[in-house]
Amino acid sequence: MADFSQNHLLGIRGLTGADVELIFETARGFKDIINRPIRKVPSLRDLTVANLFFENSTRTRLSFELAQKRLSADVVNFSAASSSVKKGETLADTVRNILAMKVDMVVMRHPHPGAAHYLSTKIDVPIINAGDGTHEHPTQALLDCFTLTERLGSLSGKKVCIFGDIRHSRVALSNVRCLQLLGAEVMVCGPATLIPKHFASLGVVVEHDMDRALEWCDVANVLRIQLERQGAEVPFFPSLEEYHQRFGLTKARLDRLSQPPIILHPGPMNRGVEIASEVADRSDAVILEQVENGVAVRMAVLYLLAGRLGGSED
Ligand code: NCD
Repeated sequence: MADFSQNHLLGIRGLTGADVELIFETARGFKDIINRPIRKVPSLRDLTVANLFFENSTRTRLSFELAQKRLSADVVNFSAASSSVKKGETLADTVRNILAMKVDMVVMRHPHPGAAHYLSTKIDVPIINAGDGTHEHPTQALLDCFTLTERLGSLSGKKVCIFGDIRHSRVALSNVRCLQLLGAEVMVCGPATLIPKHFASLGVVVEHDMDRALEWCDVANVLRIQLERQGAEVPFFPSLEEYHQRFGLTKARLDRLSQPPIILHPGPMNRGVEIASEVADRSDAVILEQVENGVAVRMAVLYLLAGRLGGSED
C-alpha cells in the first residue's frame, strides 16, 4: 500500500482515496490493540504532542489525548481560556513558544476557519486540525466513515444524508469530502437558511423535506444546531420546537420507513431538538461506536504523520 501522502492533516481536502484507505487499515489494527488487556504500544515513544485547544471540546480533546497515550507519546495540553492568548499574544507566537519547548506534533482546535492551514505556513511540525471554526473537522469525518465501513463494507454507491445545521458545522464539509472520496452519494437536508448555496456546487443533493430525505438514505448523519455560532440578528429558524417538528429525527418518522437508516451523530447531542432521546438510544444508532472508533482513527493519523517525521518505531 502507498505511503501516507501528507505532512499535516489540515482537512479532508488534500487527502487521496489511498490515504483514507491507509488510515482505515491502520485504525483497524489499533482498534484490535485497544481492545486487548494491554492497550498500549510504544509507537510514539519519545515524541511529544501538544494539544492546543483555543475552543471548547470534550470528546475530541479526550479522544486525541487517549490516542496519544495509547501510543506512548508525551502529551502537553493547552487551553486558551487559561492562557496568554487573553493577554494579546498572536497565534503564531503562542505556538512558537510551545514548540521552543521541543514539541514534535501539534493538534489544534481553533474558532477561525483556516487557522490550522495558517499555522502550517509558520511552523514546521505536523499539524492535525481538530476543528477550525465552521470549516473542517477531518478526524470526525474519518471516524464517521470508518464506522460506516464497519457496518456497510464499501461505501461506494451508498446514500448518506447529513441533516441539520450544515451552515455552521465543520463536520458537514469534512463528511461531504470524505464520503465522496469513498464513492458515496451525499445529500444534505435542513432549512434553506442553514444550507449555504455553495453546497449545491459540491455535487451533493440539497433537500428541505426531512421525510423525503429519510426515504432516500441508507445512513442519516444528524448534526447539532450550533446555537453558539448563530449570532445573527434575524434567527435562522423560528424556534427550537418548530425545528424539532420539521427536522427532528423522531421515532414516528423512522416508523414510517420500510428500512430505517443507520443513525450517526458526532455529539454533543441536543436531545429533543435535532434528535429525539428514544432515537438516540436505539440499537441502529451507532453514536457510541463513533466515539470508540475515534480513538483508533486518531491513533492511526498520529502514527502515520509520525512516520513522515522518520521518528516512529514499531
Ligand atoms: C463537533 C465539533 O466540535 O465540531 N463535535 C465533536 O467534535 N465531537 C460537532 C459539534 O460541536 O456539534
